[in-house]
Amino acid sequence: MLLVTGGAGFIGSNFVLGTLAATGEAVVNLDKLGYAGNLRSLAALERDARHVFVRGDIGDRALVRRLLEQHRPRAIVHFAAESHVDRSIHAPAEFVQSNVVGTWALLEECREYFKSQGEFRFLHVSTDEVFGSLGESDPPFTEKSPYAPNSPYSASKAAADHLVRAYHHTYGLPTLIGNCSNNYGPFQLPEKLVPLLIHNALAGKPLPIYGDGRNVRDWLYVEDHCRALRLVLERGVPGETYNIGGESELTNLQVVEALCAQLDTLRPRSAGSYRQLVTHVKDRPGHDRRYAMDISRIKRELGWRPQESFTSGLQKTVQWYLTNADWVAQATRGEYREWIERNYGAR
Ligand code: NAD
Ligand code: TYD
Repeated sequence: MLLVTGGAGFIGSNFVLGTLAATGEAVVNLDKLGYAGNLRSLAALERDARHVFVRGDIGDRALVRRLLEQHRPRAIVHFAAESHVDRSIHAPAEFVQSNVVGTWALLEECREYFKSQGEFRFLHVSTDEVFGSLGESDPPFTEKSPYAPNSPYSASKAAADHLVRAYHHTYGLPTLIGNCSNNYGPFQLPEKLVPLLIHNALAGKPLPIYGDGRNVRDWLYVEDHCRALRLVLERGVPGETYNIGGESELTNLQVVEALCAQLDTLRPRSAGSYRQLVTHVKDRPGHDRRYAMDISRIKRELGWRPQESFTSGLQKTVQWYLTNADWVAQATRGEYREWIERNYGAR
């Protein structure tokens, strides 16, 4: 039995679905169902007794204690977090609350639980953004790169990583950290770059590219990330961190170009190429220029490597969004619309 936090979000739901399919191990899924949580992503598990969904906050220590005592999981996989850099710029408080205080609350409850549970692992899901921004010719981040977070989001994730590390060092809690690059794939809310571009393109709306569009991200298909996490959980060394990435560095302009090329083939529009919709908009404040991950450690020690290239992963993603218009329609109501209005409205 695993306790998964944030399992109704983008990566968490892919992890829950993939884990049940790959191993059949039961999952207790704790998610507060904030704006990014969506139970429809888990609809395939509606009648599956191996999946127990609990709506609640990771900061609710009494609830976390009860779940640990009742289900006695062998490990916790901690995804729950506020995850969107742009939202962290507009409203950082919730990032400190969920990502820092929430992670600390989980660590405290797991520390107690671990005393009565011989075998236990705490896998914390983190990001490459904790290392800050690279110059064009800098070598990629390794597990030894210094932390230098630049946004309220990355600072809150860095703080959580430090707490996880300290709970291993001080209390001997068997913790593991995966620092991963940008994910894309099914069930991602169209406020992040790839699904936002797909969503807008299909609606004939502008494809907003911040600044000059030459910021570089390393892109990883979400199922590859989930496979890496399962490996780290089983075979990672407690107290260690693992860089996870796609070895697929692209500028945002290259991403939008690749996407338009695929859509032009899969869903051609009579008005001409989707490229005509690309629009440069005001840059994000403090926009990190480049992230890149050196993934030699996880390759060497755990035998993991990405299975999807950006082209094959993007094709799967585009196909998924084309055939799941109802998921997108449901996910982009209410709070989503208000956010899009706030973020892009005043440009
Ligand atoms: P997401 O925003 O899609 O999902 C986060 C989920 O956590 C949501 O379902 C939300 O309801 C839940 N949640 C948030 N605060 C909570 C709280 N206090 N209590 C309970 N549930 C809460 O995010 P995602 O993209 O799936 O990211 C998951 C994790 O992976 C995050 O920790 C993020 O920092 C990390 N990560 C994401 C990426 C990426 O590209 N998306 C890359 C590297 C690391
Ligand atoms: P995002 O998906 O928000 O992920 P992150 O900021 O965590 O890397 O953004 C990915 C890149 O795309 C980043 O450089 C910002 C840029 N971007 C745009 O150019 N336009 C957009 O509308 C969005 C959401 C992001």
